[in-house]
Amino acid sequence: MTRSINLLTAALVLGLLSGCPDEDPEIEPDFPADYEASYVEVRDCRGSGDHDLNNIRILAGPTALEPYQGRVEPFPVDAVVLKEEYDFGDFDCTGPIKQWTVMRRLPDGSAPDTLDWAWQRVDLERKVLDEDAPRCIGCHTGCGVGPEGYDGTCAMP
Ligand code: HEC
Repeated sequence: MTRSINLLTAALVLGLLSGCPDEDPEIEPDFPADYEASYVEVRDCRGSGDHDLNNIRILAGPTALEPYQGRVEPFPVDAVVLKEEYDFGDFDCTGPIKQWTVMRRLPDGSAPDTLDWAWQRVDLERKVLDEDAPRCIGCHTGCGVGPEGYDGTCAMP
């Protein structure tokens, strides 16, 4: 009797643990799978000393394009800037993509700890590898002050 209650408790606890939101595999990437159809390249293929020496291309989603290029208008909520990352030796970004890094704009003042952006790293299966990683935010904080940076972004397009 005691034994079966213990098993029941164990089953309940396990059930609760597996429902833990940290392990939720359903987090959606912040860009559509067919983003190529609507996103526009704003920085062509080149090496990035700051993104693990990968070669990269930067694309802006439809509502991010004007603010990213013009650097005057604020980014509207849900504007997306996407970075395709290619292998270190892939100098023209024609080989397979290794991963994406992505920033999605949040409402002004809603998330000062993350610069009012949501940050993701996404693999080829569109699995979100990390969200709001401190290293993204830490480094992009420094970009806001120099001439290269604009509103949390780091590249001069
Ligand atoms: C060591 C500094 C550094 C770190 C860490 C870093 N970035 Fe960046 N990021 C940059 C710089 C510099 C650029 C622009 C130049 C370039 O493309 O390399 C950039 C560009 C980007 C862009 C393209 C838009 C733009 O102009 O800023 C996105 C999106 C981005 N990073 C997301 C991320 C995410 C997500 C992470 C964490 C997983 C991250 N970054 C980590 C420095 C960094």
